[in-house]
Amino acid sequence: MSIPFISAEEAASYIKNGDNVGLSGFTASGTPKVVTVALAKRARELHEKGLPFKINLFTGASTNDHVDGELSRADAIAIRTPYQGHSDSRKGINNQQINYFDAHLSMCSQDLRYGFFGDIDVAIIEVTEMSPNGDVVLGAGLGMTPTLAQVAKKVILEYSSYYKTSFRGFHDNYVPLDPPHRREIPIYKPSDRIGSTVLHIDPKKIIGVVPSNASEGVKPFAPSDEVTHQIGENVCNFLVQQLRTGLIPKEFLPIQSGVGNVANAVLYGLGENPEVPPFEMYTEVIQDAVMTLMEQGNCKFASTCAMTFSDDAMLHFMENIDFFRDKILLRPGEISNSPEVVRRLGVITMNTALEADIYGNVNSTHVLGTKMMNGIGGSGDFTRNGYISIFSCPSVQKGGKISAIVPMCSHIDHSEHSVKVLITEQGVADLRGKDPRQRAETIIENCVHPMYKEIMWDYLKLASKGGKMHTPHNLQAAFALHETFMDCGDMSKVDFAKFGL
Ligand code: COA
Repeated sequence: MSIPFISAEEAASYIKNGDNVGLSGFTASGTPKVVTVALAKRARELHEKGLPFKINLFTGASTNDHVDGELSRADAIAIRTPYQGHSDSRKGINNQQINYFDAHLSMCSQDLRYGFFGDIDVAIIEVTEMSPNGDVVLGAGLGMTPTLAQVAKKVILEYSSYYKTSFRGFHDNYVPLDPPHRREIPIYKPSDRIGSTVLHIDPKKIIGVVPSNASEGVKPFAPSDEVTHQIGENVCNFLVQQLRTGLIPKEFLPIQSGVGNVANAVLYGLGENPEVPPFEMYTEVIQDAVMTLMEQGNCKFASTCAMTFSDDAMLHFMENIDFFRDKILLRPGEISNSPEVVRRLGVITMNTALEADIYGNVNSTHVLGTKMMNGIGGSGDFTRNGYISIFSCPSVQKGGKISAIVPMCSHIDHSEHSVKVLITEQGVADLRGKDPRQRAETIIENCVHPMYKEIMWDYLKLASKGGKMHTPHNLQAAFALHETFMDCGDMSKVDFAKFGL
């Protein structure tokens, strides 16, 4: 059976108002790049005629401007899950144009198979190789693609000719059985391969193939500033000290790191440290730094859901692809982020907080408890199950007008039960084995910015005035820093005297 080539416009015409649409990829990697642009154009044309047109959008993680950017600007998204990171999509979510529900990335595939969100009407899947029997080789990111291939009623392929070298051999496509038939995911070390390199899609479901030659369009990171560098150094020194004391086994343990400059600083720091043996990663995204560490022999292996390399780094990867063949495995998000596997392997997890409170609860998603930033992403999948779960952030934001450490988080994504270590540029708070009061003292002493230290001690004093409590709080004053920021734009102007300090 031959699969026809069609235009992006024709492909978009098969998608109807109210359809559930699932996309391949994870971050910009492996995410469609042309059909969604045509879809946004079509939405605008229909809106101009006074006709409704919105889709419900399901993706592996964040996407690219061709998806979240174009479709948000065209007001073409009704429901969005499980994650996004685009400024236009954020705007649409926070002004209630888009109904966004934030979810753990490991769970969306199974929720789709369970039928919790209805049928997937159309899946758009980027491929880098294909054959008429429906066997395809995916791109640089998997996300939910193997599940979408199973559950979608119709599939549109985007055939990318950007990659001159085949990705064949890097993927490990695998879909677990669903309860009550599920068995363990048989990964006992990061490099264990459990699935197939090629994904089969029923050719009868494939509407057509749309050619594409766009790159992922990932920009390299800006050089890190002093604060970021110091956080990276603090994380790195903490891990080395854990290794010295034997609290991390001498072979070291697989690492998960979020994206961004702190993650890069930590990885380079570990790579340069002669006490740290070459390490493995069990993570959801690898960036340029990991490629360099592999070439230097510091990183032995990475299991990931996506290779989110900048365009130049991707070209370098392609030119040297054979070197990386036995060092990288691309898995679906449900497996790269599997809580079961993360706990079994003893993954050291490192993620970023927007704010943390003095008891070790962490807010990763909501600015001032109300405005969505990006979403929880994979941070919950890893944090709850990590061997040591680390959160880091700068101690202050906006030139000191915001303290990232507050009396009570305005929204909680990761509770005190899961957060084991908190690190800022000021220092390290090891929360293991400490009760709430001891945690508060450790966090205030080690992580809070000097501008806010006295304020935080004052809060603890005020909270303790209410008598003996397991977790001292003064509920009137707990959000006083946030309220002060909303009133005058500077948390440091908080006045606890009015609460009876
Ligand atoms: N209150 C208000 N604003 C805050 C804030 C706070 N407590 N903390 C940060 N901000 C603002 C910053 O000032 C900055 O604003 P700007 O864009 O106007 O400059 C913005 O939020 C981003 O802050 P930054 O320090 O640059 O954060 P980041 O890029 O390192 O991202 C998260 C931090 C938490 C938003 C990001 O890591 C995230 O989305 N995490 C959740 C998902 C995740 O962990 N994924 C990886 C899992 S594997």
